[in-house]
Amino acid sequence: MTLAPRIIACALAAVLTGFGSFHASAQPHSATLTVQAGEPGKPISPNLVGIFFEDLNYAADGGLYAELIQNRSFEYSPVEQSSWTPLSFWELQKRGGGDGSLAVSSMRPIHVNNPHYAMLSVRTPGDGVGLANTGFDGIPLTAGQTYDASFWAYQAYMGIMWGRGDNSKPMPVTLRLEARDGDVLAEAKLVVEGREWRKLSAKLKPSRTVQDARLVLLAHEQGAVCLDMISLFPEQTFRRRPNGLRADLTQAIADLHPKFVRFPGGCLVHAGSVRRYYNWKDTIGPVEQRRAQPNFSWGYHQTMGLGYFEYFQFCADLGAIPLPVVSAGVSCQHAGHSPGRGQEGLPLEEMPAYIQDILDLIEWANGPATSPWGGKRAAAGCPEPFGLKYLGVGNEEAITPAFKERFQMIYEALRQKHPEIVVVGTTGPFASGEDYDHGWAFARELRLPMVDEHYYVAPQWFWDNLQRYDKYDRASAKVYVGEYAAHDRDRRRNSLRSALAEAAGLTSFERNGDIVHFASYAPLLARQGHTQWHPDLLYFTGTDVIRTPNYYVQQLFGQHSGDHYLTTTLTGAEKPARLAASAVRDSQSGDLILKLVNGDGSPATLQVQLAGLANAEYQAIRIVLAGPSADAFNDVGQAPTVQPVSTEQSLKPAFAYEAPPNSLTVFRIRLAAK
Ligand code: AHR
Repeated sequence: MTLAPRIIACALAAVLTGFGSFHASAQPHSATLTVQAGEPGKPISPNLVGIFFEDLNYAADGGLYAELIQNRSFEYSPVEQSSWTPLSFWELQKRGGGDGSLAVSSMRPIHVNNPHYAMLSVRTPGDGVGLANTGFDGIPLTAGQTYDASFWAYQAYMGIMWGRGDNSKPMPVTLRLEARDGDVLAEAKLVVEGREWRKLSAKLKPSRTVQDARLVLLAHEQGAVCLDMISLFPEQTFRRRPNGLRADLTQAIADLHPKFVRFPGGCLVHAGSVRRYYNWKDTIGPVEQRRAQPNFSWGYHQTMGLGYFEYFQFCADLGAIPLPVVSAGVSCQHAGHSPGRGQEGLPLEEMPAYIQDILDLIEWANGPATSPWGGKRAAAGCPEPFGLKYLGVGNEEAITPAFKERFQMIYEALRQKHPEIVVVGTTGPFASGEDYDHGWAFARELRLPMVDEHYYVAPQWFWDNLQRYDKYDRASAKVYVGEYAAHDRDRRRNSLRSALAEAAGLTSFERNGDIVHFASYAPLLARQGHTQWHPDLLYFTGTDVIRTPNYYVQQLFGQHSGDHYLTTTLTGAEKPARLAASAVRDSQSGDLILKLVNGDGSPATLQVQLAGLANAEYQAIRIVLAGPSADAFNDVGQAPTVQPVSTEQSLKPAFAYEAPPNSLTVFRIRLAAK
């Protein structure tokens, strides 16, 4: 096959700083990859790769938040899903001749923010009358592990309602973990007494490992008890935090070495209508006093058990920068089921109070324990400030006059009261187009320090746009690529092709790390069977975590990040190729890290030159992420097809490397003397 001379000339001159899109060829190709390893390099963001956590796909309740009971506070409603009621996922239990009923009440709630609770009435005790919950698709239990069970309760009456029962007598109850076959795996006996709401708790240690247990609470005397906040947590949450996060899932996230966490959304932030935005104040304080609410964006329920305190604690536990996002005072343009015309602004007279909520957030996060809001943080267990530095305002808004007016009000207030906070603006939902242009123009007008770009695009887009940020104005706002993903032909799968396209994109983010400060793949989490959006970075069931090829790409860039970019060029490519590379230095370790993406279905033979290094042997780790084909993906319940393989080796400043077809290779080269 002969190539047109123009194309050959292009390929010969190909330099990675401007590497375009070339297509796969059947033959191996060869090129020289030169890294200016002896130069100090260009300072880049040391915090490039982070995560974006949004509660969609059951990412929070039924996901990261380790609560095992579904609808623990009887707040499910048909607003969330048409078949849901406050008693959804609960079942009345009548054991051994027992009889009674289960009802919802709201007359004497634990707290005004938590209005509904269950009233369990026992007519005939038999072997117990109660209620059972199967959690999120069954409660997974591990034999020998301890589980913290708890509930709030008070005695409504003993005997019969309005009768003459002995109300000084407590109501005996049993709390049980049961297997599907009825086998009792663990049990605790407790008593409910008095007319005041009280929290009762027990430690339960199941005798068997099962995936689909249920929690059962049985009452044993004639009478009635009111119940709320029926909860079950594994004692082993991440870092054993009470009201904590699921350990395996959080560990998988921690393994990404994320440098920042953007939360709580996404669309979730501005949600369904102008007054239904995510209000951080509803999410702090004792869990039984938080205001659970519908997840309007994604059609289910938020307990808010994973609230702002837990998000900030999560960041601290990961050693990651917190990047909360607040509404810009407008609803989503698609609110009210409108096709892009439904954006509404908070009435201007309500803006001062709304802005005060944002200022209060900063005091809550950063203020001393003696300040009103800092005191609430301290009361929750964190007297030291969280060190909030970045704040996102708005998400993918249509850049309308209503948006601009409200954004500017918020921004001015923040600049005046908290000039130390870096405000991150928004440039709409796409990589280009009207909102992108207007968003950027507005950012320039206000001299915003940073803006958030989003793009969900075909893998080829990444290859075609490797030069995107090379052309950005260095004097303008910094870029946060807050949401991005390559959506392959088959959107249901996280193919290796999509992962490598993102890897190629990441090499260009690194090269432009002087202006691209943060980048986060989206979305992060998805529970199997409850997924509204594909693809996602990590899939999970009640017991398993499935790492996608895209996850491994993020992990390799997160674990092998640097703070200086070293000029990297490719010359002499014989044929069109889909290659991308970047080299960074990590000042802390002194290591040089070279990343090379081969998106072709054929191997790429490269002569690598680490220019400026003394001709000696250097220790290196080579990590290769590859798979049998570009379509490869990691399936549930199967050993992963695509996962990184590490090899220790020594190398000289000039070496030959054959990059496997469809691969990302990371060389981590130790330069500092041991
Ligand atoms: O990541 C999923 C959604 O995509 C986010 O909520 C939104 O910001 C974007 O449209």
